[in-house]
Amino acid sequence: MKGIILAGGLGSRLRPLTLVTNKHLLPVYDRPMIYYPIQCLLNAGIDEVMIVTGGEHAGDFLKLLKNGKDLGVKHLAYAYQEGEGGIADALKLAEDFADGEKICVVLGDNVIEGNIRQAADDFRAQASGAKLLLKEVPDPHRFGVAEVGGDGTIASIVEKPKDPKSNLAVTGIYFYDNDAFSICQTLKPSDRGELEITDVNNEYIRRGNLTSEVLEGWWTDAGTHESLYRATKLVAEGGANHMSLPAKVGASS
Ligand code: DAU
Repeated sequence: MKGIILAGGLGSRLRPLTLVTNKHLLPVYDRPMIYYPIQCLLNAGIDEVMIVTGGEHAGDFLKLLKNGKDLGVKHLAYAYQEGEGGIADALKLAEDFADGEKICVVLGDNVIEGNIRQAADDFRAQASGAKLLLKEVPDPHRFGVAEVGGDGTIASIVEKPKDPKSNLAVTGIYFYDNDAFSICQTLKPSDRGELEITDVNNEYIRRGNLTSEVLEGWWTDAGTHESLYRATKLVAEGGANHMSLPAKVGASS
């Protein structure tokens, strides 16, 4: 299984911080935000990784991560997203890299406490389709929200609902088979002008080929001032299962 980290977008909700750098290069406690999704994939035994990014500061990813070897990434690839066409638009760029394999997609601003190893193994054993990781949150209107039916399966997902039907957010960690790429080709831009990952997930639901698990441990995004602060605090207070990744890569001591 290959890993794809989506780190494009303009980070406009984090201005002025993102006027001079890419959101995913901002610090979350003692390391750049992009280290966390990389560690998440490495913890799941995924060491072939593509980072999709964009904007003016894309070159800084190369300066920071180089070929990924210092971090334990066996093969680090990069793709450049023109504009900010949405998460599914960014995902399209990874089709050749995936080369027909299953993929684990992680949003570049997601930080987790735990380890997705078991979920990854479960998806390796799943014949086809998709798997989502869900998390109970106090503010579901900020996320894609899963409506779970009586049998425990997801009936539908609504992106940023005004009136959420549950408090189960769809986290930014997605497992897909190769159909994700052909589904992306069929999408139309949403009202916010983006190709939505929620539309990809709803298509898997329509096909009856989507499983889900509730993520253990805390989960947060870091794409607003409030959530970036929360992520930093959670990591600083300990418990983030990321410590094997050297924080001091590139430092002189
Ligand atoms: O964090 C989980 C949530 O992420 C999900 O619950 C939502 O269903 C999903 O739509 C997404 O919501 P956000 O509105 O928080 O996504 P955002 O626009 O902040 O983008 C999240 C990451 O996706 C961002 O850090 C980089 C990547 N991205 C985003 C866009 C719009 C790209 O690579 N390219 C893009 O064009």
